[in-house]
Amino acid sequence: MSIIELKNVTFSYGKKTPYEMKALDDVNLCIEENLITGLIGHTGSGKSTLVQMLNGLLRPDSGTIIIDNEDIWEKPKKIGDVRFKVGIVMQYPEYQLFAETVRDDIAYGPKNMKLSEEEIDHRVRQSAEFCGISEDALDKSPFDLSGGQKRRVALAGVMAMNPKILVLDEPAAGLDPKGRREILGGIKRYREESGTTVIIVSHSMEDMAMYCDRVIVMSNAQAIANGTTKEVFSKKKLLLDAGLDVPEITHVASALRDIGVEIDNDVYTVDTAFEAIKRLHSSLNEEGSDE
Ligand SMILES: Nc1ncnc2c1ncn2[C@@H]1O[C@H](COP(=O)(O)OP(=O)(O)OP(=O)(O)O)[C@@H](O)[C@H]1O
Ligand SMILES: [Mg+2]
Repeated sequence: MSIIELKNVTFSYGKKTPYEMKALDDVNLCIEENLITGLIGHTGSGKSTLVQMLNGLLRPDSGTIIIDNEDIWEKPKKIGDVRFKVGIVMQYPEYQLFAETVRDDIAYGPKNMKLSEEEIDHRVRQSAEFCGISEDALDKSPFDLSGGQKRRVALAGVMAMNPKILVLDEPAAGLDPKGRREILGGIKRYREESGTTVIIVSHSMEDMAMYCDRVIVMSNAQAIANGTTKEVFSKKKLLLDAGLDVPEITHVASALRDIGVEIDNDVYTVDTAFEAIKRLHSSLNEEGSDE
């Protein structure tokens, strides 16, 4: 079932100036509830603009945004309500930290929600754990942390508010492979345990293939594909034409097919490659035993 629906959404920056730039051009899409959806697209394709539409930070010039069966701009004065439902961690969130300790920074949202001290403490610890923040880091100043650690704190702060929809704009950009796995793995565990709908913007096809259930492709201000991860990564030409790529392992499978190896064409992670090779191996063995 879809929890978010965009209908004919159009948006330009710098309207009626010589710098007018259409960032969303008649975007139509649905996002499924309780899944992780990846949003991919070349730089400047409109991903960050799109996610800022989802909690009312930006308002469409035309079109409708429906979240949880409600047109979020039906009553503009009530637009603030949508921010409790949709939590966004913006691109470069490390610049948004401000409290004296990591604990206070993560607790800021829950405190504003007027939760009990006990519940705030529980949420701070739980979201710190999902984001790989250790107990002793909670009493440090966020300004003494590395860029990657600051990003974890920003993410934990939004998670601690338990939004129904969690939107992450490049949560793993610039992190080393171990940091990426920890953050994205933590987000996946959080989704499994909380049932939250998660949207992740990323430039990494490998990460999207590994962690997302569904993928949306943006190109030149439009959503040009929306399907399961398997469906989208089997559209190699569409992705290459949109200035993107497929995961490395998909290239390997396609090169094998080009030389006549009958490997399935839905290989997009190491695990799916392993399964495809196993199937191929057992079918070759069966053929061998027939002779
Ligand atoms: N505040 C702004 N003022 C004017 N133009 C903007 C602004 N923010 C974005 N744009 C323009 O709108 C278009 C879409 O930008 P957006 O930031 O949504 O792209 P993106 O897909 O998130 O890119 P990236 O992958 O680089 O983060 C781009 O052409 C960009 O230059
Ligand atoms: Mg962006």
